[in-house]
Amino acid sequence: MTATGLTTSETLWLLTLSAACIGILANTFQGDGEPLIASLALSGLAFAFSFCLIRWLGDVFMRVGLKGRDMAKTRRVEIPETMGAVCAVVYLLVIIVFIPFPFYKDIVAATSGGGNRDVVMELQQVETGRLLHRFPHSKLASYLSAVLSLQVVVILGMADDLFDVRWRHKVLLPAFAAIPMLIVYFVDFGVTKVVVPLPLQSYLGELVDLGWLYYAYMAAIAIFCPNSINILAGINGIEVSQSILIALMLLLNDSLYLSPFTPYPHPATDSHLFSIYLLLPFIGVSLALLLHNWYPAKVFVGDTYCYFAGMVFAVVGILGHFSKTLLLLFIPQIANAAYSSPQLFHLIPCPRHRLPHFNPRTGLLEPSTASFASSPPAKPIALVLRLLHRLRLLRLTFNDAGEITETTNLTILNLWLVWWGPMREDKLAIGLLVLQTVCGVLGLVIRHRLALWVFREDNLAV
Ligand code: UD1
Ligand code: MG
Repeated sequence: MTATGLTTSETLWLLTLSAACIGILANTFQGDGEPLIASLALSGLAFAFSFCLIRWLGDVFMRVGLKGRDMAKTRRVEIPETMGAVCAVVYLLVIIVFIPFPFYKDIVAATSGGGNRDVVMELQQVETGRLLHRFPHSKLASYLSAVLSLQVVVILGMADDLFDVRWRHKVLLPAFAAIPMLIVYFVDFGVTKVVVPLPLQSYLGELVDLGWLYYAYMAAIAIFCPNSINILAGINGIEVSQSILIALMLLLNDSLYLSPFTPYPHPATDSHLFSIYLLLPFIGVSLALLLHNWYPAKVFVGDTYCYFAGMVFAVVGILGHFSKTLLLLFIPQIANAAYSSPQLFHLIPCPRHRLPHFNPRTGLLEPSTASFASSPPAKPIALVLRLLHRLRLLRLTFNDAGEITETTNLTILNLWLVWWGPMREDKLAIGLLVLQTVCGVLGLVIRHRLALWVFREDNLAV
């Protein structure tokens, strides 16, 4: 196999997969354009396209300088970076091609059938234009706003990969990308009331109107999801695999709202179908990327992928009206962001890279450190650091005078290594994925079972 080509067996199975998907897609036109099947088939095609393009474009990306050094290898070879951009572009094209499918029935209903325009029109109709009064424009608007928000974030991500935008500038950028869908939410749904948990209802009433704060909360989700994936990064495969797991668990949650789990039509069915249509192709392109990014990585995903993946989740969470459930699936990312905050806010030094340190003698990863050489920590910070050191929530190094000279970097990747000792890169990634799965499943159980302790009803209940 050449560095950039496909092997014969890869070519064969990608061709078979593509042919099967095209067959399935053609078949959906015979029926009533069953969107779920079409989405599955398009996701298969998205996988095949991304797989080939990642392989073919690697050298091209390297030539224009989109490359990075794999820091956790003995030979720090350079490999293509920003391959997530390929996935993001394939994804965007696929969800655009998909647009007619979920609306096929509505288009037929608004015409005389089969999309014909031979309905006899009344004079008033001719004057006012074609009356697609039964067409769900609001649904199309929310779908298009999702496409627009994702496009904006992909552009921002690519700018970051090209120009290495500074953290203080890039951290808030996804909020701009969220504006189209927040507008649609405002016009279309507009509910800014939240249900108050039972114990607090005697003080606050059953519902509290958060007003504009609700929009601030949704913008915060759009900022948090992309950035939190970008900082739980730095070892082969971790960015993509955590995203695939979150997507799979969101799919599981979505399917609970479809038949046979809940009798059709559940009020939330449509928004969960919307989520499935956006998640299936995401899983398709991500799997193709994972096969190239898993240890030992042949390509890096780039910030474009982290931003894009986070925004897919923010979009489905906000427009699907399940942002709180979404946050329950982000428990490791929330923990990592909270744990990182002293470094992110520069209370303690934050080196450019905080990924675990590779020990070439053992071939294993060890916790990386931040040094206090230039400025020792202030007294209160030193006190907290010592306490966390005692609790084994980080590891400090002291000089002969007992002063703190170094701390392990505050990421859960490093913390995992503090707890379990040095390990190989893929073992660390698998450990984190198990954590992600356990937390996600727990999150869903909390959402659908334990929620009844604090809320009167779970909206899945029928
Ligand atoms: C974020 C993290 C940074 C971490 C970096 C790793 C914060 C505030 N920033 O920065 O600490 O080091 O992600 O992605 O938490 N790399 C590898 N192996 C991998 C993945 C990446 O060696 O499996 C290296 C490569 O040299 C690659 C570089 O990390 O070129 C990519 O870093 P970049 O995504 O630009 O860093 P940030 O997102 O700014
Ligand atoms: Mg990054």
